[in-house]
Amino acid sequence: MPNSKLIDRCNRKLNYLRISITDRCNLKCVYCVPYDFIPKLPHKEILSYEEILHIVKISVRLGISKVRITGGEPLVRKGVYDFLEQLTKIQGLLDISLTTNGVLLKDNINKIKSAGIKRINISLDTLNRKKFRQITGYDFFNQIWEGIELAQKMGFDPIKINVVPLKGVNYDELLDIAALSIAYPFHIRFIEYMPMGTNQMEIGRHLLFPEIKKQINQLGKLIPVEKGMNDGPAERFKFESARGEIGFIRPISRHFCNTCNRLRLTASGQLRPCLMSDVQVDLKTPLRKGCSDDELTEVFLKAVRLKPSEHNLSVDHPAGISAQMCAIGG
Ligand code: 5AD
Repeated sequence: MPNSKLIDRCNRKLNYLRISITDRCNLKCVYCVPYDFIPKLPHKEILSYEEILHIVKISVRLGISKVRITGGEPLVRKGVYDFLEQLTKIQGLLDISLTTNGVLLKDNINKIKSAGIKRINISLDTLNRKKFRQITGYDFFNQIWEGIELAQKMGFDPIKINVVPLKGVNYDELLDIAALSIAYPFHIRFIEYMPMGTNQMEIGRHLLFPEIKKQINQLGKLIPVEKGMNDGPAERFKFESARGEIGFIRPISRHFCNTCNRLRLTASGQLRPCLMSDVQVDLKTPLRKGCSDDELTEVFLKAVRLKPSEHNLSVDHPAGISAQMCAIGG
């Protein structure tokens, strides 16, 4: 492990890079896409795989050891499986994972596995086919579920299922969704809805941790699971004799900025030190001008210096950032 050069002014060691490889998605989830129009970047604005791999190699030298590939929906980008294979070959990366909506999982799970990916997160907010169509605009529930089951059979571990609980949308299903962690070795992660101020969600649908947990407690006692060294922000629990786990991610009711170890690379080559802020530094322009690795290192260090100490997102205070969640990948 190299000595980390990515330590910010709050003494946070940034070792986790989330990389959005495309801003495109094959779903239109109400809480994610903007209400007016979905901007699409022209292909030339998007970093090539070669450029991304180059950036990752530099980041590893600076102390990044964990990478997550996101989108948009990462599996819609052409050539993604070859890219993943190149990525998993990079020395020094200890943890590489993928967040997907699962639409293309079933048909491509072999390719994901042979590329060397061992962990996947799947965004799934309902177990009801009709509701799935209402939330996402498409009738893909069955194929996603088949993909998840196949991923389990093929040994992906853990399989995390991301759920955004929303009143009047999936509140009535939270117990059924949580119960999946009893029958399957899945980690179900309830993520508090982050108001971004630009999507199709009506105000007042958000649910916060106390209410979500109270609902889920009806299923049985939630036993705390001790946090591991490399855990993310999820507060972990499990039901007695369950195969899987429940996790709560609370960006609103309990900010975890003081332990944030993340940097984000957008598909268009901008390095973002905070999900909730528009602050970003441009890696693409210097990269395309052929600048040296030292100069690119400087860009990383600048992003680290600019990392805000905390965000001020709350239920009544949306992030109001101009970049879309759907393009940053959460
Ligand atoms: N608030 C909370 N979570 C969100 N996600 C997408 N948009 C939002 C939002 N506004 C979640 C998705 C995805 C994860 C990376 O982020 O469920 O799985």
